[in-house]
Parts: sequence; structure tokens; C-alpha cells
Amino acid sequence: MKTIFITGASTGLGKAAAKNFAEQGWNVVATMRSPEKETELTNYEHVFVTAMDVQQPKTIEYAISQSIERFGQIDVLINNAGYGAVGIFEAATEKQIHNQFDVNVFGLMRVTQALLPHFRSNQQGLIVNISSQGGRITFPLTSLYHATKFAVEGFSESLSYELASQNIQIKLIEPGIVKTSWYNSTDKLQDASLSDYNEFSESFDKGFQEFSQKNAHLQATSEIVAQTIYKAVTDESDQFRYPVGQDAEELLELRKQLNDEEFRAYIRKQVLA
Ligand SMILES: NC(=O)c1ccc[n+]([C@@H]2O[C@H](COP(=O)([O-])OP(=O)(O)OC[C@H]3O[C@@H](n4cnc5c(N)ncnc54)[C@H](OP(=O)(O)O)[C@@H]3O)[C@@H](O)[C@H]2O)c1
Repeated sequence: MKTIFITGASTGLGKAAAKNFAEQGWNVVATMRSPEKETELTNYEHVFVTAMDVQQPKTIEYAISQSIERFGQIDVLINNAGYGAVGIFEAATEKQIHNQFDVNVFGLMRVTQALLPHFRSNQQGLIVNISSQGGRITFPLTSLYHATKFAVEGFSESLSYELASQNIQIKLIEPGIVKTSWYNSTDKLQDASLSDYNEFSESFDKGFQEFSQKNAHLQATSEIVAQTIYKAVTDESDQFRYPVGQDAEELLELRKQLNDEEFRAYIRKQVLA
């Protein structure tokens, strides 16, 4: 029985992936910041719900050692924990900027680095990083979030070369818009004194809402993302990127076809009212 170790499994995509792997007969380590609140995953026989905060190195070490003790080996890591800082960049505090990178990028690096000795000594392992379509294209008013996902993409791609020498593989999942608590958990970048941006912000709020509603039928659900993660883990292919949702597939395809100016004009037209 293989074992998968998932970060941010309390809700959303992480939880859907944990359930799917458990139902497919895997051992699952579902890590989360507040495991005492978990009532669903604890019902599965082969799911080990344990505390881990990607910003706290000691919790990472502890969760990994407990998992190896419990299941003998970890085969796959899913770096999923993440959130979005949303709003005007000029309004972001130093702490907000740092925290956005500390969770989405440095946290992912911390967990990866903590598991690599185990994967290397086994001479096998797979790391699946949950990026986003926003790791290759951008929308307005999410500059920090996109910066973290672009970082995850570059980090993963370069790392893939050296890890291949140790028989360790890396893959990226690139979901489009998926209805999860992501949208309610955003860190708002706001500063009342920056009213110069009000007109732009209002135009984006209205335009993005319309864009999102218009494309709702193209968007994937958490369950579909979980199935794509399962495919990425089990397909034994060398495929590196897995866009999920027709919205992501279409936008990423368009990004290949248009030049920078054309693509930015397209995005403006789509999401600004
Ligand atoms: N939803 C989308 O449209 C979408 C699209 C593309 C990519 N993604 C990416 O998919 C991943 C999962 O997002 P989601 O949509 O499932 O959002 P979500 O429902 O808000 O779940 C986010 C998860 O990350 C965890 N987390 C946040 N900060 C953490 C920290 N410091 N340490 C450990 N865990 C932490 C949360 O834990 P707590 O419960 O403790 O807060 C939660 O389990 C993220 O990387 C996100 O950027 C989402």
C-alpha cells in the first residue's frame, strides 16, 4: 500500500485529494494546522490526520517522522497548502508580502526539503506541487499571489532536473477557478488612503464577477481536481504540467498563441468592466 502526504488537507482541494486517495486504497497523511477540528477524514481507517503548519519547521519534521513511523514509508508529497493575498500591491504591508511567500513558496520549499532525504534514501519519490493557471498567466489585483505561483513553477521546473538523478519526479497541477474556501480566506490588501485606485478596483470587481459567472460552466470542481491529482500520481508518465478545468486549458492555450501585448489586452477585456 502506497502512502501520500498532503499539506493543507483541512478543506478544499487538499481535503478532496485526501478523500479520493483514501477511497482508492492509499494510506493518506492529511496534514493541517488544526487537526482537532477535523471530523470527516478521521473516519477513514488508513488516513492519519496530523498537525502541521508549513510555516513551523518543527511541526514539519514531527509530522514526517510520525508518518514514517505509522506507515513505514512516504511515496508521494502533495504541496497544496496556500492562500491568496488580494488587492492593491501598494497597500500591502511588509508582513503581508512576507507571509504570502512564506506559506505559498517558502513553506512548500520547507516541506520539500524536509522530505527529500527520505525520498533520496529510498531512491524514489514523487512531488506534486499545486500551482495554478495563475502560475503561467495573471489577473489584476493578485500580483503577490501570482508572484508566488510563478515562483513555484520556476522552482519546480529547475528542481526536476537534479531530482531526476535521484529517481525523484516533480509534477505541477494548474487548476483554473475552483469554488473552495480560497475566495473567503484571502488576505485583503487595503488602504483607505489609496482611493486613486478605487475606480480600477471597482471595474475589476464587477468585471471579474461577470467573467467568473460567464465561465462557471467551464470550471472544475474540487473532486475533478482531486481526480487529476490522482492521474498525475499514477499515470507513470513524464508529463510535467496538468492544467485542470476547461477554463484553465483554454486560457493557457491562448497564452501560447498570443504575444504579451495581445494576451494582456485580452485579459483586460475579459475582467475589467
Ligand atoms: N480554488 C482555486 O480556484 C484554486 C485555483 C488554483 C490553485 N489553487 C491552489 O490550490 C491550493 C488549495 O487551495 P483551495 O482552493 O483548496 O483553498 P482552501 O479551501 O482555502 O484551502 C487552503 C488550505 O491551505 C491551508 N493553509 C493555509 N495556510 C497554511 C499554513 N501556514 N500551513 C498549513 N496549511 C495552510 C489551509 O489550512 P487552514 O484550514 O488551517 O487555513 C487549507 O487547508 C492552494 O495552493 C491554492 O493556491 C486554488
